[in-house]
Amino acid sequence: MSEALVEEQAQAAETEDAERKIIGFFCRECAYAAADATGNARISLPPTIRSVLVPCTGRVSPLHLLKALADGADGVYLAGCLVGQCHYREGNLHAIDRVEFARALLQSVGVEPERVQMFTMSAADSPKFVAAARKMHETISNLPPLKRK
Ligand code: FES
Repeated sequence: MSEALVEEQAQAAETEDAERKIIGFFCRECAYAAADATGNARISLPPTIRSVLVPCTGRVSPLHLLKALADGADGVYLAGCLVGQCHYREGNLHAIDRVEFARALLQSVGVEPERVQMFTMSAADSPKFVAAARKMHETISNLPPLKRK
C-alpha cells in the first residue's frame, strides 16, 4: 500500500472520528472536580466528547439519554460520584437504574446498548475520569455511525 494511500486513510479515519459526537453528562460534584483536575493537568479528552454539567447524575432521565442519541450523538454517558458518595444521597443509584433501562430499550430496537454507559469516580480521580472518556471514545469509534431512519 502506498504511503499516500495510508496517509489518506488515516486522515479519513480522523475526520470520521471528529464527526462522531459523544455527550457526557457530568455531575457537578465528584465528576466535575475530576474533570477540573484533568484540565489543570492539561490532559486533553478525545475530540468526540461534549460535556454537559448537571447538578447530579440523578437529574438525568432516560429521555435525556435517548434524546441525545436521537438528536445526533453516537454515544452518551454519565459520570458521577462513587456509589454511596452521591451528594444527593441516591442520585447516582437512580442514574445507574436509568442507564440500564435506556440500554434495555436500545437493545429492544436493535441499537447497540454500549452506546449508553455510566461511570463513577471520586473527586480526586482524574485518571478514572480520563479513562471513562477514552473508553467511550474507543467504544463508539468501533461502532458504525448510529442510523436514525
Ligand atoms: Fe455526583 Fe449525585 S452529586 S452523582
